[in-house]
Amino acid sequence: MTNNNPIGIFDSGFGGLTVMSEIIKALPFESLIYFGDTAHVPYGSKSKNTVVKYSKEITSFLIKYRVKLIVIACNTASAFALPVLQKTLKIPVIGVIEPGAKAAVAASKNKKIGVIGTEGTINSGSYLKEINKISKSKVYQQPCPLFVPLVEEGWNNGPITDSIVKKYIEPLLNKEIDTLVLGCTHYPLLRKTLSKTLGKSITLIDSAKATAKEVNNILNKTHILSNGKCRKFLKFYVSDNPGKFKKIGGRFFSKKIDDVKKIEME
Ligand code: DGL
Repeated sequence: MTNNNPIGIFDSGFGGLTVMSEIIKALPFESLIYFGDTAHVPYGSKSKNTVVKYSKEITSFLIKYRVKLIVIACNTASAFALPVLQKTLKIPVIGVIEPGAKAAVAASKNKKIGVIGTEGTINSGSYLKEINKISKSKVYQQPCPLFVPLVEEGWNNGPITDSIVKKYIEPLLNKEIDTLVLGCTHYPLLRKTLSKTLGKSITLIDSAKATAKEVNNILNKTHILSNGKCRKFLKFYVSDNPGKFKKIGGRFFSKKIDDVKKIEME
């Protein structure tokens, strides 16, 4: 494995591009290969077995490109597939949940932490477990299944989104949380709307930033940081509809995505 091999990153679709953006900012000399499983999105409402099966197929694809490290940018796939992939792959595999949990514990003063995510992520209890490994914080969880379709529709704000956000968030407000983990790739795009309901005193934790930091740490520790003077490439692959990926992906990536290739999964 050479230092100049790319980092592989995958998600159920577009959402992981929020994580990729942060990795790009944190690591200017790394090449990246992104895979969005647009044929199977959303993962948030699927069973563990199904998400693990898809995740294994995607990582087999990424390994063919000789990636030196894999980032599971999807919260649901991190919740369900991280342990299996860490056991079976010979390269480091990082999910978004542990970095997000650590950042939440560091931010919370009153040790009352809220977590929002897909049904899969919340039902897995993964954030709860990670937070409890490092702190005796009280954790209050809330699945928000309508947030993903709202964001994909571009409805990041407006009266309908305001009222849906209120409905999901209100139960957490009674718990006096001072920190809220945005435990889904799409939720950073709802930051402004969430802040309206939450007020200024609740800190929002975006796992994407924390994950990018963790990728940097691991590359450093394992001595596989790129030693090039510039980034060689960013590549994008999907399992369906590259046109839609380019169009919607741009919103998550805040940059135009020009070249996306469709892959037939085995
Ligand atoms: N990427 C997923 C996550 O972070 C959200 C979209 C989906 O349900 O597939 O959990």
